[in-house]
Amino acid sequence: SWSTGNIIEEHVQRIREQVGSASVICGLSGGVDSAVAAALVQRAVGDQLTCVFVDHGLLREGEAEQVETDFVAATGVRLHVAEEKERFLGALAGVTDPEQKRKIIGREFIRSFEAAAEEVARSAAQEGEPVRFLVQGTLYPDVVESGGGEGAANIKSHHNVGGLPEDLQFELVEPLRTLFKDEVRAVGRELGLPEEIVGRQPFPGPGLGIRIIGEVTEDRLAVLRRADAIAREELTRAGLDEDVWQMPVVLLADVRSVGVQGDGRTYGHPIVLRPVSSEDAMTADWSRLPYDLLARISNRITNEVEEVNRVVLDVTSKPPGTIEWE
Ligand code: XMP
Repeated sequence: SWSTGNIIEEHVQRIREQVGSASVICGLSGGVDSAVAAALVQRAVGDQLTCVFVDHGLLREGEAEQVETDFVAATGVRLHVAEEKERFLGALAGVTDPEQKRKIIGREFIRSFEAAAEEVARSAAQEGEPVRFLVQGTLYPDVVESGGGEGAANIKSHHNVGGLPEDLQFELVEPLRTLFKDEVRAVGRELGLPEEIVGRQPFPGPGLGIRIIGEVTEDRLAVLRRADAIAREELTRAGLDEDVWQMPVVLLADVRSVGVQGDGRTYGHPIVLRPVSSEDAMTADWSRLPYDLLARISNRITNEVEEVNRVVLDVTSKPPGTIEWE
């Protein structure tokens, strides 16, 4: 539309002024925001951009492959993949406090970008010039809820705002900082990104790390990843992806309850389904999903994921609950 076109033109100009002829990296998370930010910067400075995908080990099933194929196919951007699972899981070992997790993840993202920037600078395309700029897909609500808005309380530190380390070496380029999600999607469509990217449900940068209530370990990640894949598959099969803003699937890793599976007693973990409907994630309501869909998800998770013997539904709006549990 006319106004979306204007937003794009204005940001393209601003990005060019900020960046000049320097090289730039952009963190891609697989989500809508970072994809649109990257596409906007690519429009502005073309080949000066290298995208960096940090595989932090906190991703959902199939997510790494999706970034590596969908986004690169759509934009032809140069992609650097950083395998950083050990760095993140090492830093998160023993940590249970949600804000501490968020700050650790924010910091380790930056450390990963620093390492990636050195490799990018050494690459032939950048001729040894250091990378000064880091593009992030920060949205207006991320800023507000991290306590960056006027008079705002710190609800939680989004990894790319309140979770940034103080000794940040990069200058940030954040073209979406004044926009809401629906505007970001419109910009993405106008830039020609495919619907599989712009229509995607939101997924937080800290990934499954903030959906395991308790310490994050590889075993727990494997359990949550399987439960999440089942829930997403059934939601899609029911044709309800577009009716739901997003559906966090949460593992209560430190809670156990008694169950009976086969002919034996079990003492397993609950999985929480948190489907919400929302306009901009600032407020939300719990989605009234059909009972037969909920039953299918519950049956499949308890049958197919051995460690889980109970599935519960979160029926809290935001406020008072937030969308994510941490
Ligand atoms: P809450 O839990 O604050 O979530 O109601 C609002 C929206 O933001 C997403 N979210 C994040 N996204 N980094 C992100 O990129 C973060 O640290 C983060 N924390 C929450 C959440 O999934 C929801 O869409």
